[in-house]
Amino acid sequence: MTDATSTLDNLMHEERAFGPSADFAANAVADASRYERAKADRLGYWADRAREVLTWDTDFTETLDWSDAPVAKWFVGGKVNAAYNALDRHVEAGNGDRVAIYFEGALGDTTTYTYAELTAAVKKAANAFESLGVAKGDRVAVYLPMIPEAVITMLACARIGAVHSVVFGGFSADALRSRIDDAEAKLVVTADGTWRRGKPSSLKPAVDAALAAPGHTVENVVVVKRNSEPTEWNDGLDKWWNDVVLTASEDHAPVAHDSEHPLFILYTSGTTGKPKGILHTTGGYIVQSAATLKDTFDLHPETDVYWCTADVGWVTGHSYVAYAPLVNGATQVMFEGTPDTPHQGIWWEIVEKYKVSLLYTAPTAIRTCMKWGREIPDGYDLSSLRVLGTVGEPINPEAWMWYRDVIGANAGKNGEKKEHPAPIVDTWWQTETGSHMIAPLPGVTHTKPGSAQVAVPGISIDIVDEMGESVGDGEGGYLVIRDPWPSMLRGIWGDPERFKETYWSRFDGMYFAGDGAKYDEDGDLWLLGRVDDVMNVSGHRLSTTEIESSLVAHDKVAEAAVVGAKDATTGEAVVAFVILRGSAEEGEDIVTELRNHVGKQIGPIAKPRHVLVVPELPKTRSGKIMRRLLKDAAEGREVGDASTLADPSVMTKIAEDMRK
Ligand code: PRX
Repeated sequence: MTDATSTLDNLMHEERAFGPSADFAANAVADASRYERAKADRLGYWADRAREVLTWDTDFTETLDWSDAPVAKWFVGGKVNAAYNALDRHVEAGNGDRVAIYFEGALGDTTTYTYAELTAAVKKAANAFESLGVAKGDRVAVYLPMIPEAVITMLACARIGAVHSVVFGGFSADALRSRIDDAEAKLVVTADGTWRRGKPSSLKPAVDAALAAPGHTVENVVVVKRNSEPTEWNDGLDKWWNDVVLTASEDHAPVAHDSEHPLFILYTSGTTGKPKGILHTTGGYIVQSAATLKDTFDLHPETDVYWCTADVGWVTGHSYVAYAPLVNGATQVMFEGTPDTPHQGIWWEIVEKYKVSLLYTAPTAIRTCMKWGREIPDGYDLSSLRVLGTVGEPINPEAWMWYRDVIGANAGKNGEKKEHPAPIVDTWWQTETGSHMIAPLPGVTHTKPGSAQVAVPGISIDIVDEMGESVGDGEGGYLVIRDPWPSMLRGIWGDPERFKETYWSRFDGMYFAGDGAKYDEDGDLWLLGRVDDVMNVSGHRLSTTEIESSLVAHDKVAEAAVVGAKDATTGEAVVAFVILRGSAEEGEDIVTELRNHVGKQIGPIAKPRHVLVVPELPKTRSGKIMRRLLKDAAEGREVGDASTLADPSVMTKIAEDMRK
């Protein structure tokens, strides 16, 4: 953690802190009493929140059952339907005409769904899926672009108790197939395609390729018509969404599911080659995601317009697009496109158009906008923005200050500045945690540029040393979670041993997050990045081992080592060092071939930025690859201590080649 420590030394000198305005604090949803209540009675606090944010069909009798640790049961005995909570109950309460989703298509086409319309759409999808034989507990793979049908599909699954497994549209056919197989999915919901940078981009062919080899469990593929590009048709499997969903009945009674009924599986990269199917269940997940959205973003559903830019293929798009905003009855924007198409001001045009008040995005996007220049957002009226969120990777203080000054302080196109810029909420959490774990309360916390601040009320975060002892203020170590929390993962699909081993074996009785962190002198938390073999590229989690395995699977590669190298825009970038097999030729072609190979096996996001062909990899005498040294070379630094290498000259050569 040398790098991390030196970064922190800089951060520790951060003396800027910004408190909420009196006005903001006076109208905030959450005040400091949340911390006091949670501290006095943690379980009582969560029981209160559970009854506040959800309408339970049957109330729970016990808040937490930890007897089967580390598999928790929350809100035991409670019965609840997530889709009913996200939809029907708002209509019943007289809010059927409130907008649930303002959809902005990639080509500028728009659709609006009120709560009444979204409820009807989900009921149709629920009926359609049931008519295709999907029953409670069955798994449904979802491979869709950012279109309302993605949310409709997820909620329809939740409604009938089917377990969705959303696979990011940027993953390849191979990655999709391995996820379909692992979860034994019965149904796949996809689209013909979408658009990327104004051009058609297909999805259905990847599904066809994924299902080409026999031996899968899929009985039906439902296809949304989105970009209308021609597509192959498999009569045995394929059905158009328009034919099965749009023709289905709008009557569908939600069934109450047990609080611990599985809600979804979401695959994420770990430290081995095989992605982990993170399992979340119903009650606890919905409670914590809904409660944290409300508090962290100061959500006033009657007046706010919320926009989270995350794709539904990632956990942020699950918790804070598909579930929490709707459970809270909020109005949200959903955008299918990318931030640079049709122009680099499209995000700010959307904020101005819909008067977005709560914006949630990732540091990599903020850094990209910084690079494009402040003139672009300065040309729009962003005065509606009240709270600005960030997630996915550590946010550097420069990006944080830019977000505040350029976006948060914008009081209109005329260049006027707000006296009180929108507060920034940096939220730390993971696929595994389901919801925010570390984040400020915008009406309470004095925020510092770059710090995620403090644990969410009711959450026990700590930083410990190698021995698992708490470190003091001003000190760093490993981030752990000491007590179970409502939206915690309930396991890894089909692999209970790996669940224990991965998260619970490093420190006795504590959940180990895999991140390094440090307390500053005030006891505020700073995240320092992963301490394991997980990379973070544009806020997307990638495993070094998974990419190494993919490279080694190529017939021209003998050995491979992959590292995440610092990148000014994407946070980290994938850099691969490969040894070719005897017969293979070096050169541009092999580099392109290997990059494309990884793109095909895992997905374009995993393509290495650089592939360097090397004669040898730096190994210790016991044969362990020293990735730390490769990282130094990849980042253009002086290579660190290479004295434990079997052959120190290997590194000199690599560093030289890298500089070229
Ligand atoms: O390293 C942390 C980083 O992202 C990891 C979790 O990745 P994933 O499961 O894909 O979920 C991302 C969205 C919740 C963490 O282990 N991370 C996430 N948020 C932050 C962060 N690092 C620093 N600051 C954050 N706010």
